[in-house]
Amino acid sequence: MRIWIFLALGFLAGCTGSQTPQSGKQDPGAALAGAKGCTACHSLNGQPGVGPSFKGLYGKQETLTDGTTVIVDDAYLTESIKTPLAKVVRGYTPAMPALPLTDEELAGLITFIKSLK
Ligand code: HEC
Repeated sequence: MRIWIFLALGFLAGCTGSQTPQSGKQDPGAALAGAKGCTACHSLNGQPGVGPSFKGLYGKQETLTDGTTVIVDDAYLTESIKTPLAKVVRGYTPAMPALPLTDEELAGLITFIKSLK
């Protein structure tokens, strides 16, 4: 008798599990980075791609094409995402497009980049 209860519970758990939306637990910024195409050029694992990796980006010092240095903070991230060519990181092609983002999306992306220590 007990075995059936276990099987029923297992079955129920399986069902509820599969009904949970895939993105439910994920950081909304992470989903956005994929949906907006950011991750096509920016890796999340530290590997440089077309653009610098998002991993460890926040707080890092970057050297720009004009030789000046900046510390990556919220203001710099906002500027880099809204007007990608305002400051171009040395060693990279100025290939980043200005993507249409709402303020909410921008904030979500910045929170996500900050979380990738
Ligand atoms: C077509 C490729 C491409 C796409 C798509 C792209 N980027 Fe970039 N991005 C780059 C390149 C190349 C650079 C480095 C040159 C520069 O600073 O503009 C860069 C620079 C950046 C920087 C500054 C990085 C640093 O090290 O200072 C940030 C932040 C950034 N991108 C965020 C984003 C976000 C967020 C998205 C999605 C909304 C995105 N990028 C989409 C190519 C891309």
